Amino acid sequence: MDLIIRRAALSTHVAGRDAPVDIAIDAGRIVAVEPNLTAAAGREIDAAGSLVVPPFVDAHFHLDATLSYGLPRVNASGTLLEGIALWGELKPQLTQEALVERALQYCDWAVARGLLAIRTHVDVCDPRLLAVEALLEVKRRVAPYLDLQLVAFPQDGLLRSAGAFDNLKRAIAMGVDVVGGIPHFERTMADGAESIRLLCEFAAEKGLPVDMHCDESDDPLSRHIETLCKEAHRLGLGGRVAGSHLTSMHSMDNYYVSKLLPLMRESGVAAIANPLINITLQGRADTYPKRRGMTRVPEILAAGIDVAFGHDCVMDPWYSLGSGDMLEVAHMGLHVAQMTGIDAMRAAFDAVTVNAARIIGLEGYGIAPGCRGDCVVLDARDPIEAIRLRASRLAVVRGGNVVAQSPPARATLSLPGRPLEVDFKLRR
Ligand code: FE2
Repeated sequence: MDLIIRRAALSTHVAGRDAPVDIAIDAGRIVAVEPNLTAAAGREIDAAGSLVVPPFVDAHFHLDATLSYGLPRVNASGTLLEGIALWGELKPQLTQEALVERALQYCDWAVARGLLAIRTHVDVCDPRLLAVEALLEVKRRVAPYLDLQLVAFPQDGLLRSAGAFDNLKRAIAMGVDVVGGIPHFERTMADGAESIRLLCEFAAEKGLPVDMHCDESDDPLSRHIETLCKEAHRLGLGGRVAGSHLTSMHSMDNYYVSKLLPLMRESGVAAIANPLINITLQGRADTYPKRRGMTRVPEILAAGIDVAFGHDCVMDPWYSLGSGDMLEVAHMGLHVAQMTGIDAMRAAFDAVTVNAARIIGLEGYGIAPGCRGDCVVLDARDPIEAIRLRASRLAVVRGGNVVAQSPPARATLSLPGRPLEVDFKLRR
């Protein structure tokens, strides 16, 4: 064996019922998950009852814009539209070297956070396709330690931006994996619907997945998710189509949503919400009460539709914070959607792990024999404690190799009659 992680708690374990297990990894794959393994390994880690999970997965990110905060200026209004305008100002100044360097730096942060798979949108509206070339280069370089999936994203509109469809087709021919779109940014609702039809037909012809920025607005009458479902159903794309953001669903009429949710289910269209970004960008034109804007996550889940939470942005024209921590994303999603029941909190954890992996089609994901030898040892005993503490990633494992380690979060105290150290875990 290359590696054995001893005494691991799994996310499915129930405290007091399930015994910790040993996880053995050999030749890049998990080969055994059982208590008290007698085998030996080149390296052993004692999890000592800590939670061991498959890696975090970010189903929605923008790696071409990340870490560009302040270039060439900051977003003064903090709005989505100023962010798009700011990105437009930055684009002519981009160089491939700077794009690659920023993306690699973010991937370092991601690995340190146990985030080993990212689906990133890449803007294809610049005819030079500089960002596409840069992220394909980054994908090659990080492949040994991080799975990067690229979405061809016409940021300025497929029909609204001259040459965007040709650029998108070129990007796909260069090796980009997924067809993107942004129907709510086209000139009219009809143009948005037309862009969805064109993009879905192109994806069907090429046998590719689809992931569109869809209805990212506060408009209760935006109907692009309905059109995306219709096209997915018509073209038989179910199971490989995702609608990202879907924030207008927050503002839609309840009766209409009661019709929309079964349509999403029937069409096999998954939902990707982006809690950190949706809570800051939506409802900006409201006075009070202000809408939260995130899509209807508990209701979508209850309808049997897959939901992932994405990070979307880190230190870019749209969002000045973030550090690649998917537990922070889950924490925000849980709060915004009021997912405070035990099952709901676990669903928030699934939205940054197993659900996200399923939506982006990751192969061999999980903690079971035959799965890839990728996992994260968290300084927490269960998924809810992991979210509450944004638990330290004690060890991050890729293919049986430890690729990152962090110390546990501890504070030392100097208080009369009190313990010398606290770790923020509840003990009774
Ligand atoms: Fe996005």
